[in-house]
Order: sequence, then C-alpha cells, then structure tokens
Amino acid sequence: MSLLELRGLTHVYSRGTPFEKTAIDHLDLDIEAGQTLGLIGHTGSGKSTLISHLNALLKPTEGTVLFNGEDIYATKAAMRHARFRVGVVFQYPEYQLFEETVYADIAYGPKNQRLSQQEIDRRVREAAAFVGLSEDQFDRSPLELSGGQKRRAAIAGVLAMEPEVLVLDEPTAGLDPAGREDLLEKLFAWKDASGGTIILVTHDMSIANRCQRLVVMESGRIVLDGPPELVFAASEQLRGSGLDLPAAAHIAGLLRRAGVDLPAAIYTVDQLAEAILSLRGKGGAPC
Ligand SMILES: Nc1ncnc2c1ncn2[C@@H]1O[C@H](COP(=O)(O)OP(=O)(O)OP(=O)(O)O)[C@@H](O)[C@H]1O
Ligand SMILES: [Mg+2]
Repeated sequence: MSLLELRGLTHVYSRGTPFEKTAIDHLDLDIEAGQTLGLIGHTGSGKSTLISHLNALLKPTEGTVLFNGEDIYATKAAMRHARFRVGVVFQYPEYQLFEETVYADIAYGPKNQRLSQQEIDRRVREAAAFVGLSEDQFDRSPLELSGGQKRRAAIAGVLAMEPEVLVLDEPTAGLDPAGREDLLEKLFAWKDASGGTIILVTHDMSIANRCQRLVVMESGRIVLDGPPELVFAASEQLRGSGLDLPAAAHIAGLLRRAGVDLPAAIYTVDQLAEAILSLRGKGGAPC
C-alpha cells in the first residue's frame, strides 16, 4: 500500500455548461512515503487541479484518493484528517496571508487542529525558525513583510501543521536564484528531518532534476513517470508535451553537435562541468 493512491481520478470543471473542461482524466498514481516527486507539465495540463485533490480541497467528479489506504472523501473526519496530514502550499501563497499578525497567520493551521496553546506556540516558533523567519517579525502585519518573507511565513503556516506530505505549487516562482536555492535547501532539509514526502509542481527543469521521481502530465493524464534521467532521456516525448530539457542538457547537446565528445546522460550543471573537465584528461580541449 502506498501513502497516497489516486484511483481513476477525474475532475471536470463547469460540467454541463459550454465551458466544460476535463482537467484530470481517469488518472492513477501511487506515491510512496518519503519520496520527492516532481510534477511537471505544460500550462493547463492539470497539475494544480490534481494537487487540490490531495487534501480534499476539490472533490473528484469520478474516482478517489486514498491516504494510508483510506478514502479521504469517505467522511467529514477523513477529509479533515487529509487536510492536516497533507499540507498544500498553493502558488504565490503570500497572497493568502490574511491574519492581523505574522504569528497569527502561522498559528492558523495548528489552531484549527485544536491543539493546546503551548503546542501551537511551539509549532509556530519551530516552523518560523525552520524557514528562517525571525521572531522579531511575529507582531508585524504580514502585509509589511518583504516578498521573500511573506513566502516563508506562508510555508511556515503549512509546516506548523506538521504534515506528513508537503505539496508545493511552484514554490520558487518569482524568487531570485539565491532565494530559490535557499528555499529548496530548506524544503529538502524538512524532508530529511521529518521523513516526510514532498510533491513539487515546477516549470523549472533544474528543480525537477533534483527530485527522485518525475511525473509528466499532459491534458489531465500522466504521459511519463520515472527517475529524472529516464524522463529527460525521452526528450522527444517531453517536447511533445510542451516541455524542455534542463539548460545543462541543452548545452551538452549543442556541444555534442559541435563535435565535442560528451557522454549521453548529462542533465545537471555538475555533470556537465565534470564531463568537460574530464575532456582535458583525454587531451581534447572542449572548445
Ligand atoms: N476553476 C476553473 N474553472 C474552469 N476551468 C478551470 C478552472 N481551473 C482550471 N481550469 C482549467 O483546467 C485545466 C487544468 O488547469 P490547471 O490549473 O490544473 O493546470 P496547471 O497544469 O496547473 O497549469 P499551470 O502550469 O498554468 O499552473 C486548464 O485547461 C484550465 O483552464
Ligand atoms: Mg497550476
């Protein structure tokens, strides 16, 4: 049994109207505990719709989602349980900060879990420290924070629920490269510290490349599923799904075409650097 099992999941928006749209189409997916799963796909392929089912925020038109073998839609209690166990950080979560203070915003989830005041306080402080948000900010209005701080506060609010699964929709969108790296490191550190599962929706192939497993969506279905090296090796199919390879793989391809003798599987900057440096040993200058 997997931690999350999607069975025949189907979601049709605006059913029975001229705007009817099948966003998820009889999709099956098993997600193991402790995995870092990257969900990629062209805009409109159904990624956000899919993740909105993982914590019962959207109801399927058909099919269901099992969490630890239990149908998350079976009862109100099951839906509530899923909402706490699967923490979803939506795209640009900083726009969803609505409490008067940063502290109250981070405490919102744990408060809903009806925890003791002491436990809520512990979780708020721990989650804020984890995302690198200073306690000096606790009494400020979330509106006064910088963009990066707002993002951290929003993520801290989800971490404070201590979920087993953390789902993030484009968590690094709009961040500069340093902010992006910092956030990714924190997310991976959360996974290592908690033993949790991460599902990461991203358009950034260099981020996708850092996941253990990649699931590629197209028109509400899964078209590729496997470790990044296998998914990126299917480059023609990826292009057919409107996706591209990581930049390092592109550069490697251009160098190969220019006659540079590089190995086939190069997807990261580190792999590319290593391959270029090893050319020196072969006596060939790369360019
Ligand atoms: N509330 C809605 N009402 C009607 N159609 C919708 C709604 N939300 C999404 N859709 C449609 O469902 C399909 C899937 O949308 P979804 O937002 O899940 O895609 P996505 O993969 O997350 O895209 P993006 O990469 O742009 O975020 C799209 O065709 C979209 O236009
Ligand atoms: Mg989306």
